[in-house]
Amino acid sequence: MPHRREFLSYLGALAMAPAVGLGTNEDGGRGTAPTAFESLPHDVDKTHHVAAGYRADVLLRWGDVLTGPDWQRWDPARLNRTEQARRFGYNNDFIAYLPLPVGSTNSTHGLLCVNHEYTNTSFMWPALSPRTIRQKMDADRTATEIAAIGHSVVEVKKDGHEWRAIDGPFNRRYTGFSRCALQGPVRGDARVSTSGSPDGTSADGILNPCSGGKTPWGTVLIAEENFNFLFSGTDRKDRESINHQRYGIGSRDYYSWWADHFARFDAAKHPREPNGFGWVIEIDPYNPRAVPKKRTALGRFKHEAATCALNPDGRVVVYSGDDGIFEYLYKFVSRRPFDAKNRAANVDLLDDGDLYVARFYDDGTLEWRRVEFGHGPLTPDHGFHSQADVLIETRRAADLLEATRLDRPEDVEANPHDGIVYAMLTNNTARDQGEVDAANPRAQNRFGHILKLLPPGAPGPTAEHASTTFRWSQFVLAGDPENPNHGARYPGTTADGGWFACPDNCAFDPSGRLWIASDQGAGWRTTGMADGLWCYAPDVGGDYGFKRFFQAPIGAEVCGPEFTPDGRTLFLSVQHPGVDGIASAGYHTPATRWPDFAADLPPRPSVVAITHAEGGLIGS
Ligand code: FEO
Ligand code: CA
Ligand code: CA
Repeated sequence: MPHRREFLSYLGALAMAPAVGLGTNEDGGRGTAPTAFESLPHDVDKTHHVAAGYRADVLLRWGDVLTGPDWQRWDPARLNRTEQARRFGYNNDFIAYLPLPVGSTNSTHGLLCVNHEYTNTSFMWPALSPRTIRQKMDADRTATEIAAIGHSVVEVKKDGHEWRAIDGPFNRRYTGFSRCALQGPVRGDARVSTSGSPDGTSADGILNPCSGGKTPWGTVLIAEENFNFLFSGTDRKDRESINHQRYGIGSRDYYSWWADHFARFDAAKHPREPNGFGWVIEIDPYNPRAVPKKRTALGRFKHEAATCALNPDGRVVVYSGDDGIFEYLYKFVSRRPFDAKNRAANVDLLDDGDLYVARFYDDGTLEWRRVEFGHGPLTPDHGFHSQADVLIETRRAADLLEATRLDRPEDVEANPHDGIVYAMLTNNTARDQGEVDAANPRAQNRFGHILKLLPPGAPGPTAEHASTTFRWSQFVLAGDPENPNHGARYPGTTADGGWFACPDNCAFDPSGRLWIASDQGAGWRTTGMADGLWCYAPDVGGDYGFKRFFQAPIGAEVCGPEFTPDGRTLFLSVQHPGVDGIASAGYHTPATRWPDFAADLPPRPSVVAITHAEGGLIGS
C-alpha cells in the first residue's frame, strides 16, 4: 500500500499552503504561493543581511557549549580535544530540524542536527598563521581539529521570536574520531579491514560531512564529501592505487599534519583506511546512544547530500550528487517499502536496494543505469569480484557504465508537492567546447546551472522516483542574464538582485517554493556579491521569479537551508566567514570578525535562525 499520505504528515514540513493565490507552473503542475518580500540587492560587506521585515539571529556559533558548564567568554586559546568534543563544531553545513517529540510537527521545540564539514585551521588558534601551520599543528591541536568536524545534535526551543539552544538529553557531538558501524554489502569485506577494525565492521570518524538529508522515519543522513583531502600519501603497491587515484587520495593533502600525528591518515602506510570514508551515514538523533551507521549500499564517492523521496509503492529513493568536476548523479532505491506505522521496521531499510547512476540523453530522456556487480562491464575482467568491490570503487564502476559527466553535482531535491527533482550543478571551468552536451551546455561553466528531472507521473502526487527512465530539461543557466558573455537563462523574471551564481544547496518550503543557496568560492570577486539565499516562485500575478533573501558576510558560503514544519522559521548555516577569495587572511587579519565583531576574536562559523518580525511565514 502506498504510504505517501503518512509520509507527508510525518515530515510535517510539507503542510500545504493556503490555496489562495497559487499559480500553475510551466510543467502544468500545481504552483506555489508568490513571494511577498523585496529582493536584496547584490552586495558584499562584513556582515549578514536579510530581506526587510525579517530578523536573522545568530543561534549557534563554533565553540558554543552543548553539554556541561560554559566559560564566561569564548576563548579559542583554551580549546582542546575534550572541550571541542562537547562544543559546537566548525564550518556548519547541513541542517536538519527534527521536532520534539518524535513524529510530531512541533515548530517551536526540536533537535537541530548540523554537519561540521571541515576546518579553516589558521583561523582557529591565535598562535597560528597560514605560514606556520605545519610546525605548530602539534598532536594536541590536531586532535582538537579532528574533534571540530563531524556533527552536532542540539535541542533548540523558541520563546516568542527568539530561538535558544538547551543543554538537553539529546545533545551529542559526533567527531572525526567517532566509531561508526559499516553496514550493507561492504561490511566485513577484506578491503575495509584496518588496524582499527581488523574484521572490517567499523570505521572511525565522520569525515568532511557536507550536506545530507532526512529520512521519512525521522533519522538524519550525513554525506561524507571531501574525505580525500585528509589523507596524505598514496598506495603504490597493490590494488588500492587505482582506487586512491580515482578519489584524489594523496593528491592534495591539505591537512598533512593529520598523518604526522595519526598514522591512519597516511594512506601509503594504511592503504585500506580511506575505504572507510566517502559514505552516507545514518544517525538517529532521538537516540543519543545509537551508533552511527555507514550505509555502504548507497555507494562511495564524494557525496554532497543524500535526500529522500518516496515512491508511490512506499520504496525509499535517495538522490545524491558526487561533488567533483565531471562527476555523476546517483540514486538508491530501497528493496523494501517504508513502514509509516512502525518506526523500528525502517531501521536498516537503506542496507538493501539498488544503486543507479544517471545517463542523460540530448533528446531529453534520462536513463538510470544499475551499478551492480555482474551487470554489464562490472565483472572480474574489470577488477570487480563482488558488490563490495563495486561500491568501494563506485566512481570507476560509473565510468565503465558511461554515465554522464556533469558540472559538479551538488544538492538534489525532489519537490514534495509535485515530484519534480532539481539538481544543482555548481560550476566547471575545466569543460571545453568539445565536451559540451545538452545536459552541460556551457564550456568554462563559471556560474553553474540547474537541471529539472521529471520522473514518470511528475508533476503530480504519484511521481515514480524508482523508475529507471525519467525526462529532463534545463531549468536555470546561472549568471547575469543581462551580460551576454554569461549566457544565463532563467524561467520567468529575476528581480534586482535576483540572479545568482554557483547553486549549491536547495530546499523547499512548506508551500513548495524552491530556495537556493550559493557557493561561489572566490567567484564573488567576479560577480561583486557575497553568497546568499534566493527564493523561486513561478511568476504569479506579475510577481518575480527569483529574489535574493539573505546575504552572507564576506568570504562565507550559505548552507542549510532548513524550515520548521510551520514555515515560520528558516535555519541557515554560514560557514567559513572571511575566508573564500581572501588571500593570506588568518586569525589576526580576518576580512570580517562576524558574528562577534570583537577585536580579539576570529570569525566564527554559525547557524542563523530567521523569523518574520510579526511571526508570519518565511517568504510570504
Ligand atoms: Fe561541501 Fe559540495 O560542498
Ligand atoms: Ca555544498
Ligand atoms: Ca559547496
